[in-house]
Amino acid sequence: MSRPDKHDLSTLSFNTLSVHGGNEIDKTSGAIPTPIVMANSYELPYDPSTMDWSDTESPSYTRNSGHNQIGLQRKLAAIEGGEDAAVFATGVAALHVVFFTFLKSGDHVIVGDVTYEAVWRLFSELLPQRYNIEATFVDMGNMDAVRAAVRPNTKLIHTETIANPTTKVADIATLASIAKQAGALLSVDSTFTPPPFFRPLAVGADLVIHSLTKYINGHGDAMGGVVIGSKPLIHHIKADALVDRGGTISPSNAWLIMRGSVTLPLRLKQQFSSAEIVARSLAADKRVAYVTYPGLDSHDQHALAKGQFAGKGYGAVMAFAVDGDPDAQNRFVAHLRVITSAVSLGHDESLIVHVGGSGRGGSDRYPPDFQKYGHLRLSIGLEDTEDLIADINNALDETFERS
Ligand SMILES: Cc1ncc(COP(=O)(O)O)c(C=O)c1O
Repeated sequence: MSRPDKHDLSTLSFNTLSVHGGNEIDKTSGAIPTPIVMANSYELPYDPSTMDWSDTESPSYTRNSGHNQIGLQRKLAAIEGGEDAAVFATGVAALHVVFFTFLKSGDHVIVGDVTYEAVWRLFSELLPQRYNIEATFVDMGNMDAVRAAVRPNTKLIHTETIANPTTKVADIATLASIAKQAGALLSVDSTFTPPPFFRPLAVGADLVIHSLTKYINGHGDAMGGVVIGSKPLIHHIKADALVDRGGTISPSNAWLIMRGSVTLPLRLKQQFSSAEIVARSLAADKRVAYVTYPGLDSHDQHALAKGQFAGKGYGAVMAFAVDGDPDAQNRFVAHLRVITSAVSLGHDESLIVHVGGSGRGGSDRYPPDFQKYGHLRLSIGLEDTEDLIADINNALDETFERS
């Protein structure tokens, strides 16, 4: 009996796609998982002189496309519900690619006033100062403010689904309709909300970006980024950004992310449900000054999050502070035994980072509690929830006993 065609992904459901999407049995060895192909170059046809040297669909030179990269792109497009995908060395490279492919001098962009720091820096420093691309930073919780920011030369609206680090939630369907009316593209960094949890393309976004470094790989051992969208938009990105600017992911990292993503739906289920319990436990503790997490009733966009994410959960990242000065935050982190002090998020292990009160570029971008106490960004991993809660409670006991 012949095996089903691994390339026909259109009929498969999410868990099946996560296992089989983009994987091919190796024709030489019969190995079931696609092996890592550590090759810079692939054999050329009899007459290469007529080839398109900028082709990004069949492997010839790994900067343009390699075997592992192609498989990963196929899987990521399928799980996000896009026509095509382009993978890059990091999440920041993928974000950079969107901005540098679709914007030119004189264009205007609307950007969330809270985003990953590198995006803030690109739009507040590099793009306006060196490339004459102007950005208006807008509260993505306020759709009237977004509408009011549209100009005739607005070419892009860029937001995060759940903003890093404040956890503000953006209404993606409304943003998509504003972008469409303005004749602009909507790009959504959905790193905090991977599929099947949420699919921005299904509610009208043009481009979805993920830092693959986070949930999609999920094991904290490989970096990558992806942009997913329609074939014409992704073709444009591949031609500009892979062929002419590089930024390509390594075959070994593409392979690791391919393997890590097999368990994505199972990991998200565990991490998201555990996060809700941890957030509630923190919010109930008088020694905790504040907690922001979209799953809490106290969160400004709790109702939006509930509707937009269809009751599937609220992500697994929260921000909070213990009720004390900046050194109390450090002492608390130092007393943790299960949760590790490290940057990044979406890994198998829970990570916490003491970030302080403000991002670069002004404390008023962050809510008053963040400015008063600073903030700890906590990413919930795959440990047992009771161990995480015990770790936090023990660290709180130790912190407040000694103060
Ligand atoms: C929301 C978000 N987007 C993008 C990035 C950048 O990803 P990378 O570190 O893979 O470049 C991060 C990193 O923390 C992030 O949190």
